[in-house]
Amino acid sequence: MEHSSDVDLKAGLPIAELADGGIISGRVDGEDAILVRRGKDYFAVGAACTHYHGPLAKGLIIGNTIRCPLHHACFSLRSGEALYAPALDPIACWRVEVTPTKVFVREKLGSPKGGIESTVAPSAKTPNSVVMVGGGAAALAAADMLRRCGYSGPVTLVSADDAPPYDRPNLSKDFLAGTAPEEWMPLRSAQYYVDRKIELVLNQRVTAIDAARSVVSLGDGRQLAYGALLLATGADPVRLQIPLAGAARIFYLRTFADSRAILAATESARAAVVVGASFIGLEVAASLRARGIDVHVVGLEHVPLERVMGRDIGAFLRNLHESRGVTFHLGQSVTHVDGKQVTLTGGATLQADFVVLGVGVRPAIALAEQGGLAIDRGISVNEYLETSAPGVFAAGDIARWPDPHCGDRIRVEHWVVAQRQGQAAARNMLGLREPFAAVPFFWSQHYDVVINYVGHAEKYDTATIDGTLESRDCAVTYRRGERTVAVATISRDLQSLQAERAMETTVNPI
Ligand SMILES: Cc1cc2nc3c(=O)[nH]c(=O)nc-3n(C[C@H](O)[C@H](O)[C@H](O)COP(=O)(O)OP(=O)(O)OC[C@H]3O[C@@H](n4cnc5c(N)ncnc54)[C@H](O)[C@@H]3O)c2cc1C
Ligand code: FES
Repeated sequence: MEHSSDVDLKAGLPIAELADGGIISGRVDGEDAILVRRGKDYFAVGAACTHYHGPLAKGLIIGNTIRCPLHHACFSLRSGEALYAPALDPIACWRVEVTPTKVFVREKLGSPKGGIESTVAPSAKTPNSVVMVGGGAAALAAADMLRRCGYSGPVTLVSADDAPPYDRPNLSKDFLAGTAPEEWMPLRSAQYYVDRKIELVLNQRVTAIDAARSVVSLGDGRQLAYGALLLATGADPVRLQIPLAGAARIFYLRTFADSRAILAATESARAAVVVGASFIGLEVAASLRARGIDVHVVGLEHVPLERVMGRDIGAFLRNLHESRGVTFHLGQSVTHVDGKQVTLTGGATLQADFVVLGVGVRPAIALAEQGGLAIDRGISVNEYLETSAPGVFAAGDIARWPDPHCGDRIRVEHWVVAQRQGQAAARNMLGLREPFAAVPFFWSQHYDVVINYVGHAEKYDTATIDGTLESRDCAVTYRRGERTVAVATISRDLQSLQAERAMETTVNPI
């Protein structure tokens, strides 16, 4: 229950004003804060999530934690620590004093700087060094968690990318639309890596793993020994073999450099073709429309996103994009591009200054195959995210893990899952043996409509809508038999959190 007001929380509140489980918004020394009651315990913490400033007063309290309504980050109410991604930084925390009749927020407590709840005592299992292969969501979250846990050995992050870890989901959203500047994109400052002694080796590929000797080889011929290894190589865009002629301009979108290249192309462009009507294609379409570019979306499917989200959400998204000026050419693909002329399989031709191909990705598992690791449409990992080679972990888009909730071995391509797997793998490297049990979550943004999705529904029998898509206020529940396997919501953030919680408490043995 949220009680919203602008009260000075330092001045003291009658206890009767805050019911058990209640939240009061207010200010402490000029900062936005919330006061939360859990039984006899009271907590005062910062009001804004450290990911994208989500309003925590609208979040869900579970035990002594609070979850953000926007992308489900989880914070400790006791210490402010960001326990689960996508937030990595703590929220502020104040001391609370309770008298028989009133509750007062007092001075700010020292920043947890991580560590407070996460610290892991060194043991015989502590690796003497850790190498991360990859510089994306999972690798950064893992490196961050190792340091938060107090790990003091060398941590090296080797990335084929030329940029330090950045906010990849934003590449197709606000950054491409022009509402998020470059400086928002890095996940961490340059100083962060110096302070945490995380060595970044950029523009460098790991070319081989020798799991028997615990050594990886780099593209420049160097070899790196590791005590524990994390594979977090993500996914590569599927390349379409389209005959090109003339000065055809074709882009894929996976990296910061890709997004910058599209951005540069928009400057002189009037029209673009996006091939692929799934999440990335549609997000790109929305961002290009925000820049006033004519957009044609070409896709093999007849209803966008039907396989994942169902016919209703798919049709709704199509209408939404059409209402913003996007033209769809569905049930077809592109046969060839000649300069600015794009020919479709149906025979029509479109004029476009450039083409963006967003036709899916494949997990980047070549390295794992070369290293002899067990593969199962991704890298096969156990519940601790450890591969078939002891001490070698895998996380993110490449990992197929036993999901205790849906009861299958699954692999997903979600930002938050990758980060949480990185965090879990880091803790397991330190010997904690914590099974990875987070319920998958992703979000997708189309203009001002955000869809949140919890769970995993590779197959489902029914999709039931509560509310209406037209009003942009609904929850779609996907069921297999009697079981809820996923819930998609629009403008129902609390319901999404509650659905996540309900799924967390459901276990289906594999
Ligand atoms: C444009 C875009 C928008 C997205 N939007 C959303 C969204 O809204 N919501 C959502 O949930 N998900 C979204 N995703 C998906 C999400 O970004 C991925 O699921 C997530 O980044 C996966 O994290 P990862 O760590 O597994 O891989 P990545 O973040 O892709 O990182 C992989 C890293 O490995 C490096 N690498 C690869 N091979 C090697 C090698 N041999 N040696 C060294 N380094 C190597 C790469 O250079 C890269 O640094 C989006 C993805 C894209 C591309
Ligand atoms: S704003 Fe809180 S998780 Fe994204």
